[in-house]
Amino acid sequence: MHSSDVLTSQSQYFLDLENKYGAHNYHPLPVVLKKGKGIYVWDVDDKKYMDFLSGYSAVNQGHCHPKIIEALVSQASVLTLTSRAFHNNLLGEYEKYITNYFDYDKVLPMNTGVEGGETAIKLARRWGYTVKGIESNQAKIVFVDGNFWGRTMAAISSSTDSSSYKDFGPFMPGFEIIPYNDLAALEVALQDKNVAGFMFEPIQGEAGVVVPDEGYLSGVRHLCTKYNVLMIADEIQTGLARTGKMLACDHENVKPDILILGKALSGGTMPISAILANDDVMLTIKPGEHGSTYGGNPLACNVAIAALEVLKEENLCEQAEKMGQLFRDELAKLESPFISCIRGRGLLNAIVIKHEDADAAWKLCVELKNNGLLAKPTHGDKIRFAPPLIITESEIMQAIEIIKNSLNCLN
Ligand SMILES: Cc1ncc(COP(=O)(O)O)c(C=O)c1O
Repeated sequence: MHSSDVLTSQSQYFLDLENKYGAHNYHPLPVVLKKGKGIYVWDVDDKKYMDFLSGYSAVNQGHCHPKIIEALVSQASVLTLTSRAFHNNLLGEYEKYITNYFDYDKVLPMNTGVEGGETAIKLARRWGYTVKGIESNQAKIVFVDGNFWGRTMAAISSSTDSSSYKDFGPFMPGFEIIPYNDLAALEVALQDKNVAGFMFEPIQGEAGVVVPDEGYLSGVRHLCTKYNVLMIADEIQTGLARTGKMLACDHENVKPDILILGKALSGGTMPISAILANDDVMLTIKPGEHGSTYGGNPLACNVAIAALEVLKEENLCEQAEKMGQLFRDELAKLESPFISCIRGRGLLNAIVIKHEDADAAWKLCVELKNNGLLAKPTHGDKIRFAPPLIITESEIMQAIEIIKNSLNCLN
């Protein structure tokens, strides 16, 4: 063990608490955070780190963004929750704001990302029966290999990752899985008249930032239109400026029939997700057929408007595009023998580690942490680098220096 891997008694205390009283459903890096500001977080011993995970892209606007916190705090002392049994004075304002922002007729507000996915599937199935004319209970949703959209029973029923689904069956029927980035396979799948929707990530985040070929997104749009299937884009991780455009689908100027947003819709302050669609799809769900106690609560509405405003006011799309390019260029210049691939778009990036030690990516992340940068491996050998989008050029250069020095631990 590296000398600086030894935890202080303070950090150890919090690790022990979680270990003793919390379910063991995560394997975090051994760092205990207590404060965040902008791209930085601090641990309980006051050590400062660059946050290169950003709460899995929830903190695009930076930790504790003053405008988002002001929206949260000011509304928190006025009205937080009414449930949808009553109207509230912020829901309609938010609905108008977000539908104009993304150019859809309607929004359905939910909380977590996975609820967004669940909602999209329900909506597609309903549309399949009532508009497309699919025979009762025969609707299919097509997914792709390597997808990740959460941990509910429906989400794991579409998963190809055994750590997600093993020993959790039986699974949700009506799902089909095809390879990612394969338009020929998609065309075959969509010919089945029972297919209501094709749900996918425009760049696969949890799979390790898998970027499809140029033309994939427009190809998906073309095939979904051709076979009268709803194109459902899960932009929970790729959306909201993360990849250098407001939506990753904007890279090919395509508009999904159902758009799912989450994470940065609250700038990391609370779970807020949104499902956007036009009337022909959204109005197939009638009163009493879907909902959530917290969905559309006034606190969330106020926060989401502020979080969306910040993305435009601070030009975070352009910033992500520019800083992402710089980051990838500088990583490439390192010419490390341990990096077999650098990929990504905007500030959603990953490297693939090549090393005889299967734990090399984990060890590198521990070393990065020791050197003041937080990142987490995914699927063993991949490390995602996704800092808040407000990161500056000099901070990117500092991060590169940390990565360069940390790579020495693999020698
Ligand atoms: C693309 C994508 N969809 C859905 C989800 C699920 O979001 P949540 O964890 O808020 O339920 C995630 C989470 O990482 C995600 O990356």
